[in-house]
Amino acid sequence: MTGRLHKKVILVVGAGSVGQDISNGAACAVTFAREGAAVLCADRSLAAANESVRRIEEIGGVAEPFEADVRNAVQIRAMVEHALARHGRIDVLHHNVGIEEFGELVHVTEESWDRVHAINLKGPMLTAREVVPHMIRQGGGSIINISSIASRKWSPMQFLSYSTSKAALNHMTRVVARQYAQHQVRCNVIVPGLIDTPHAAALYEDAREAEVGRATRNARCPMGRQGSAWDVANAALFLASDESSYVTGLELVVDGGLSL
Ligand SMILES: NC(=O)c1ccc[n+]([C@@H]2O[C@H](COP(=O)([O-])OP(=O)(O)OC[C@H]3O[C@@H](n4cnc5c(N)ncnc54)[C@H](O)[C@@H]3O)[C@@H](O)[C@H]2O)c1
Repeated sequence: MTGRLHKKVILVVGAGSVGQDISNGAACAVTFAREGAAVLCADRSLAAANESVRRIEEIGGVAEPFEADVRNAVQIRAMVEHALARHGRIDVLHHNVGIEEFGELVHVTEESWDRVHAINLKGPMLTAREVVPHMIRQGGGSIINISSIASRKWSPMQFLSYSTSKAALNHMTRVVARQYAQHQVRCNVIVPGLIDTPHAAALYEDAREAEVGRATRNARCPMGRQGSAWDVANAALFLASDESSYVTGLELVVDGGLSL
């Protein structure tokens, strides 16, 4: 396939999809492949990674699954080595993994706090730490992190650890961007607002509650609708492509005006 990412090799971490509706990581993986990249779809769930590979092969793209948990440095190294063994380079690291656990300040437990920060913050650090030396060796690359608007403002959903881990991810992005700019390694972060993904729907007790929840989320958005995973993917496509070759350290807000 030819396109804006022709011949690029892209590692998408948290690329899995489950069911018919598409999640952020899967939409990005499909978009990258549609634009000509070879994509390694990594996820802690091999079944979910396989489902995204199936979607990509369906449109004639090139992809392969890989099972890895971002809390595990050994698995991360194996994932990066696998991508290098297959393709010899990694042009783009797209880090989509993120979880949330309920808890405002007076309810959050230490275990929950540590778990969320291990996945949302330590995971992207471990992965970038493994990939950056190879990007430097090959003359550059693009790292794309996925944050959340909860990193910048209070949210009615009480996820204190989610907000703080994503806020730290934003700043890690800036520091990494400045540190490695001399090597043409770019690092940017997408800051999505409310996005209608299967994961967001699953935050509710049952299908009826999810429907009410979806309507409430739509009403909170100035455009009258939540974003879709494809809105996030289109922003990621820009940051993955050479069209953004002079863009680094950016917080790219994709929220339909929610934060204004
Ligand atoms: N949906 C929204 O409204 C929204 C809004 C803002 C930001 N985001 C962010 O977008 C990203 C994806 O969101 P989504 O709604 O598509 O969720 P999702 O749960 O569908 O996607 C996350 C993927 O990461 C994988 N994963 C989870 N823990 C992992 C681990 N330890 N190691 C490896 N893989 C792991 C999951 O299996 C899943 O495939 C997250 O970073 C989330 O914080 C989502």
